[in-house]
This record gives sequence, C-alpha cells and structure tokens, in this order.
Amino acid sequence: MKRFPAHILIFSISLWFHNAEIMAQQNKIDKQIDDLLQRMTLEEKVGQMNQYNGFWDATGPAPQGGNAAVKYEHLKKGWVGAMLNVTGTEEVRKLQKLVVEESRLGIPLLFGYDVIHGYKTLAPIPLAEAASWDMEAIENSARIAAIEASSVGLNWTFAPMVDISRDPRWGRVMEGGGEDTYLGGQIAKARVKGFQGEDLSAPNTIAACAKHFAAYGFAEAGKEYNTVDIGTSTLFNTVLPTFKAAVDADVKSVMNGFNILNGIPVTGDAFLQREVLKEKWALQGLVVSDWASIAELVPHGFAEDMKHAAELGAKAGSDMEMESGSYVAHLVSNVKEGKVKESLIDDAVRRILRVKFELGLFDDPYKYCDSAREKEKLYHPDHKEAVLEMAKKSIVLLKNENNILPLAKNQGKIAVIGELADDTNSPLGSWRLGSDNNTAVSFLEGLKAYSQDFKYAPGPKVFNKDANFLQEVEVNATDTSGMEEAVALAKESDVVLMVLGEHGFQSGEARSRTNLNLPGLQLDLLKAVHEVNPNIVLIVMNGRPLTITWEAENVPAILETWQLGTQTGNAIAEVLFGDYNPSGKLPMTFPRSVGQIPIYYNHFNTGRPNLEPNVFWSHYSDEQNTPLFPFGYGLSYTQFEYSDLEIDSSDQSAIKVNVTVKNSGSVAGEEVVQLYIRDKVASVTRPVKELKGFKKILLEAGDSQKIAFTLTDAELGFFDHNYEFVVEPGMFEVMIGTNSQDVLRQSFEKR
Ligand code: NOJ
Repeated sequence: MKRFPAHILIFSISLWFHNAEIMAQQNKIDKQIDDLLQRMTLEEKVGQMNQYNGFWDATGPAPQGGNAAVKYEHLKKGWVGAMLNVTGTEEVRKLQKLVVEESRLGIPLLFGYDVIHGYKTLAPIPLAEAASWDMEAIENSARIAAIEASSVGLNWTFAPMVDISRDPRWGRVMEGGGEDTYLGGQIAKARVKGFQGEDLSAPNTIAACAKHFAAYGFAEAGKEYNTVDIGTSTLFNTVLPTFKAAVDADVKSVMNGFNILNGIPVTGDAFLQREVLKEKWALQGLVVSDWASIAELVPHGFAEDMKHAAELGAKAGSDMEMESGSYVAHLVSNVKEGKVKESLIDDAVRRILRVKFELGLFDDPYKYCDSAREKEKLYHPDHKEAVLEMAKKSIVLLKNENNILPLAKNQGKIAVIGELADDTNSPLGSWRLGSDNNTAVSFLEGLKAYSQDFKYAPGPKVFNKDANFLQEVEVNATDTSGMEEAVALAKESDVVLMVLGEHGFQSGEARSRTNLNLPGLQLDLLKAVHEVNPNIVLIVMNGRPLTITWEAENVPAILETWQLGTQTGNAIAEVLFGDYNPSGKLPMTFPRSVGQIPIYYNHFNTGRPNLEPNVFWSHYSDEQNTPLFPFGYGLSYTQFEYSDLEIDSSDQSAIKVNVTVKNSGSVAGEEVVQLYIRDKVASVTRPVKELKGFKKILLEAGDSQKIAFTLTDAELGFFDHNYEFVVEPGMFEVMIGTNSQDVLRQSFEKR
C-alpha cells in the first residue's frame, strides 16, 4: 500500500476539519437567515434593500421635519438595511441602537464608507500602489485601512475599484489598478483579502466591495458618467476578469455603476448581474447600486419614472439601493401588483442578511463601536511605518541620465522649486473622506532629514489653497509672480529639485481632463528654469498618467511620485538620496499626447501594423505610435540583464518558462520580472502582448537568479464569441522582460 508522508496527512486532515467548520458555519447562517426571513413582512424585507446617506448629527436630537425626519422614521421601522457616510463610534452606536432597540426585528445596520486608500493614515492612491507590483504590500495596505475604518464603527468599504481603464483623461484611474487585466486581477484579490482578512467576524475586518460593475472605466472620451460601448471580447477578456478575481476571493459585495453599457444602464442589466455575477460566478454577497444609479435609470431613458426604475433595478439584481429611495417607496407595490416576484426580493434580502451574519453583527451589533479602540488605532505608529514602505514601493524612476540620482548626501547647493513641494494636503490625493486635511509630510519636510541648507522658491501660484473634494480645483494660468525669484534661485544652485504636477483633487470622481499637461504655468516655469540650469530632477505628483513629453526629452531625471499619502515627503527623500532603491513599474501607459488616447500595451496588431515608408499603415501623420513610457516601465539605481529564456512544453498542461536575471549594477535592487504571451492565431484575434505572470525579486549587486514561470490553460485561454473560455492549439510567443517593450522572445506550440 502506498503511504502518504505524515506531514501531508496532517495537512489534509486539518484542511478537512477547516472546510467542515466553514460548512457548518454556513449551514448555521443559512438556517438563521431562513428563520429571520419568514418572520419579516414584505415592507421589512424591502427595507433591508434600502441604504441611506447619513443625514444629521446622530448624537444630536432627533430631526424634526424634512428628509432627515423621514429617514429617522424609516430607521425606527426597520426600513433601512445600511447607512453610508456615518462614522465615529459614537455616531454609529447611536444609529445602530435606534434600529436594534426600536425596530420590530432589530436587524443591525451595515455602515458603508469609501475607504479607498486608508481612513486617517493614508497610503498612496491605489494607482500608485499598483505601481509597486507588490501584492503583499497592497494587501497589507488594505489591512491597515480596514483596521482604522473598523475602529470608527465602519463594517463595509466601497473598495476596491477594479475598473480597468485605458484612458488617463478619466479622473478615476487614480482609484484603480491601471490598464491591465492580469495585474488588476491580482490587485483585486490582494485588496479584498486585506479588507476582509481571514475572519470576517473579527472586529478589525470589514466587508469589501468590488466596483463598478461593469466597464465604467471605458467611458467614452474619458468623460465621467459617459456612455460605454464596447464589444463582447473586450467585455469578457479585459473588463470582467478583475471582478471575477474579486468574487473568487470571496468579496462580500459588488457595486454597479452609473454608465450604460451597449445601450443598457448596468444598474438595470440582468444579464450582467444575474446571469454572469450571481449564476455563473456564484457571487454569495450582495450587489449595491451606485449613488442614486437606480433613480438615474429615468434620465438614461430606460425607466419611465421612479416606480419603474425600482422595478427594473430589483429585477436586474441590484439588491440594495444607495440613497435614491425608489425601493422603499415603490418595491412593495411593485411586488403586490405582480411586477416583481417576491422570490427576487427574498434573494436580495438573503444576500444582505448573510453579510450581516458573517460580520457577526447579530451576535454583537456594537462590535465596531469601541471608542478606546478608535483612539488607539487611528494614526497608529505602525500604520505610519507601513504606509511609508508602501509609498517608497510606489515611486517609479522614469529617467536618470548620467546617474544624476541618487543625490549625494553632501550635495552642493540645492534649490527646491514648485508650489507642491510645500503642500501637506494635495499629496494625500483624492478619495480620502475620513482623513484630516494637511496631514501629509510635505516634500520640504521630508527633505529636511537629508539637507538643512536647501533654498526654496514656490514659483507662480498654481492651485487654490482651499481646493476640496466637492469643487473643481481652480488653476492659475496667468499670474506669473514668483517666476523670476524661482529662476534666480535655480541659477545660483548646483541642482534643482522641481516638484510639479496635479493637485490631489484634480483626479477622482468627476475630474475628467482633456489636457494632460502640467497644469497652469508649471511647464513655463520648468522651461525658464531649464534655460538657466538644466541640472534638474523633476518630481512629478499626479493622479494619472500625464503627457510630460517635453519634460522627458529635456530634463535629465524624473521621479514619478503620484500622490503618496501621509508619508509623501519622507518616501521621496529616501529615494532621492538613495536610501531606498526605486523599483516601481508603471501600471498604465504614459501617452506622448492626448490624441494618442486610448493607448495601451495590449492592443491588436491591425492588418497594417507597419508598412513604412508607404503611407497606408496604421499610424498618425503628426505623432509617433509609441508611448512616452510603456506599461510596466520603471528604472532602478542598478541595472538588470535578462538572458537564457527557455521553454519546456513537454507537459502541455504546465508549460515551463525559465529566464535568468542578473543584477549587473553596483547596488542591490528589486526588479519586477514580467512575462507576456501572444497567441499568434486564434478564432478571436488576440492582442500583440498580454501580461500573464510577474515576479518581484531582490538581487544583490552582481547576483543572478533563474526565474521560473508556469503557463497553464488559465493563462493561455480566452473568451470566444460565445463567451466560452477556450484554449486553441497553435503557436504562442512568450516574452519576458523588464517592461512591456524590452523583452526576450521565444515560441512554443500548444497542441
Ligand atoms: C459614487 C461613486 O461612484 C462610488 O464609487 C462611491 O462608492 C459612492 N459614490 C459612495 O460615495
């Protein structure tokens, strides 16, 4: 008889016990849901499907009259399943108590909030974190966000945003993982795991929400809330897999979106929500609408009025309505009139109750309302440390001519120029509703740890100081005061550190731009400084790829620093002076000009990829085809050499790919080894390259490492015209390299 080694036997037995425990827990929850559901009136069921925005100082007196009073009455009746934008242990406890003690069944509320890159202690914006390609760090960052958010009473975050986007004009790219589906899927999993942890019922884990289902990132012309019209191949191969990854990671909720997709508002799309998400993918969690997106079925021209909108939303599978109130007003009559089946309502309520049971809210509705924990966890020193690490990992070195970086610690005369250098607010980035203003370490503050005798000139004013989340940022493009002083300072200095970019609130929701240059007079300032002193390090702060084309041609060193959150200045200073060797890689292509958008690495070949010097090929007459910086690009203070790309396809179910990477420079460094494939001929044309694997490695100077990848059908297949996942035989090209452009190539045959 064959004997299993003891450790495998023990592992298998403990796995069996673990799974059995989960099953038993699920069965128990199913029974509890059944029991509760059959005691609920139709009104109470519909009430669970209703989410309200916070409306008055919950610790104050009960509101009299108006909308707030209506909400208050609904809470007492048990006609509210969740709140959003109510935070703080006191406020949350007060509302929870109202519902638990005064409503008939006392079903506790969910408290949702946009915890996008931290609550008080802020990590870099998600696009920046994506540049780290470090899944452990990203998971940890979400973990910290969950610890702080749960300490203020919250149990549900509206994150991660997993929308793939190829359009940097769209302001919400700052919130996502960039343009690539594979990378985005890995990030989706890491973030869901970070927020939800190992045990959702623990007091420091919260339910996550993958949004916006689906294709919101493909808004035409990058204009917010705009139409989306994409083919099924793009939908299935590019857009949906990041959501699938989140569902596979057991995400507890999914949010739909504001957009129409191929003519149907996604909020009212039964195919997407019922067939794909709930049936095919077996989502256990709930689907929440976006803010008033059910009411918006009316202006979309999809529903006649609010009652019709409620009917269509519920039928399509939007289980909970955020803020617009059409469900609580009309779903009961829709059911009574036979327009919506009660079984659909039951399904929605089951999903909502399940999340509440799993969070443990029925055991202790106040488990997130411990004010001592709130005090202890917010701005915890460990969190500051962790976001500093994350911030350093997020920085991308874009250019470093003549190794101008890192700066020597005994640099000569340093000039710092640019208003953003002295800003403690903008580097916090957008989507930071719970945070306190002016809590970032500014660039200047960070620099002080390395140099005491730098001089600073802000240059012309760029942004209004009181820029905030609710209003457009005002940009000065006329007043040149401060220019002369900055140029004079640059002239007398050895090196000029120019801190330029976008304001943190120029990206995020409703912040689309048609011009992706440095805002205001910043490029004029840079050019003027360059004339007197070209020894410039440009530190760019931004929430999206920018068209820094002149900059890339003329400035010797460029650091992409996004908006790095609380520890901004410290992180940048460490990189500038070489205490941290940058390893970030772009998660989104940087265009040369706005006219190239959408520009992305995994495009199709076209029938006329290159017929130069003939004019009839796919190109622009006035612009190059290549991007300014490609996807996956980023330098280090050391160099990496790639060699010996080998493929072993003898086992067709697990194709082995090896490559050797050598650190040929003089300092230790981290490298993201990227693997791309191309399916040469297929029934649905495949892109010229698709990322299918990556590994982040640390190599000491002079060291080499053999890196191994395995390609299975999961990486080689794609969704065909019938939405079926297929792997077609034929030749595949494998490309491995330091970015999506500089690669070694080999081929194999899939039989
Ligand atoms: C609208 C945004 O689209 C969504 O992402 C967010 O979660 C909700 N508002 C709630 O703030």
